[in-house]
Amino acid sequence: FEVNWDAEAAEKGGYEHFMIKEIYEQPKAVRETMTGRLAKDDSGVTFDELKWSKYDVAAIRKIAIVACGTAYHAGIVGKYLIENLARIPVEVDVASEFRYRSPLIDDQTLTIVISQSGETLDTLAALKEAKNLGSRTLAVTNVVGSSIAREADQVIYTWAGPEIAVASTKAYTTQLIVMALLSIYMGALKGALSPEKIHQLCQELKNLPGQVHELLEDVEPIKTFAQQYGFNEDVFFIGRSLDYAVALEGSLKLKEISYIHAEAYAAGELKHGTLALIIEGVPVIALATQKDVYEKILSNIKEVKARDAVVIGVGLKGDTELAKYVDHTIYIPATGKFLAPILSVIPLQLLAYYAAVTRGCDVDKPRNLAKSVTVE
Ligand code: G6P
Repeated sequence: FEVNWDAEAAEKGGYEHFMIKEIYEQPKAVRETMTGRLAKDDSGVTFDELKWSKYDVAAIRKIAIVACGTAYHAGIVGKYLIENLARIPVEVDVASEFRYRSPLIDDQTLTIVISQSGETLDTLAALKEAKNLGSRTLAVTNVVGSSIAREADQVIYTWAGPEIAVASTKAYTTQLIVMALLSIYMGALKGALSPEKIHQLCQELKNLPGQVHELLEDVEPIKTFAQQYGFNEDVFFIGRSLDYAVALEGSLKLKEISYIHAEAYAAGELKHGTLALIIEGVPVIALATQKDVYEKILSNIKEVKARDAVVIGVGLKGDTELAKYVDHTIYIPATGKFLAPILSVIPLQLLAYYAAVTRGCDVDKPRNLAKSVTVE
């Protein structure tokens, strides 16, 4: 009698790959990132690790967000949330650009670096550069005691738990949670948010873990799309405002693990070039979760449909319009515009995962890529 003990299989807890395990860990990860920070009565957000006063926040004239890869995409969402909810100007850079563009950073700037591993060399170097220029620094990272956590003045941990798959999933969604919490925290201290608005946002946050769970209950349609379109050479992702940020992340997920050429476009930019690439049968994933630009994205969908693209629309549950304009629909549970990215990215993670599986790719260890890039 012999026991075959496969440590890696045990770590995968019954899942075929770490990536899908980590996708399914998101309800828990998202909940844990909020625990102790979101007030039980939905009255606001606290960060014991920051303990900022209204004077601390008033002293921030500008925020610079710096990160790489998926964390950079979380930064783009962060800019939108901070500017809208806390009314502080934000610029976002990829770390390898920030370092070499002589950024206008000073002691009235807060530099936020976002890094799952806390070890990305370019992000660490950007953090040091910001400190040299006199900036206050805050790290958002998943790894306790990492180099970036040690270097920054203050740290917010994402509490996603260990992420093994090279393609980031739960680290990204928890980075978005931190961005939302931080925006509410700063917005409240700045007096930019009414108590009613804070209450509403907190309630929406509280609903998220259940909504993520709900999304993960029925993945069959997404698996079918991946099997149907998984052998296409090109895929386009379009969206406006926060949906554009999600399009960027959806496209990165697809290319890094399935090796399908994918591009994300701000939908309004289509007619400035990309439309030339839209021909019969090209899959276009169109995100339509943002009410204030809803009519605009519908007209962009019509533009690609007129060129016979195959459109998969991602919309909010209860939207009865979208299905009239697209070939297939994916609905996410209804939430406010600021939190929609946390839900709409999940079908895109699944689409990338099942496309990679369909194509027989090494999902957890894609070619040429590393989980943590500690070289320049
Ligand atoms: C690598 C990983 C990406 C990650 C990026 C930044 O390229 O493959 O998934 O987004 O590094 O990593 P970090 O640990 O700084 O978030």
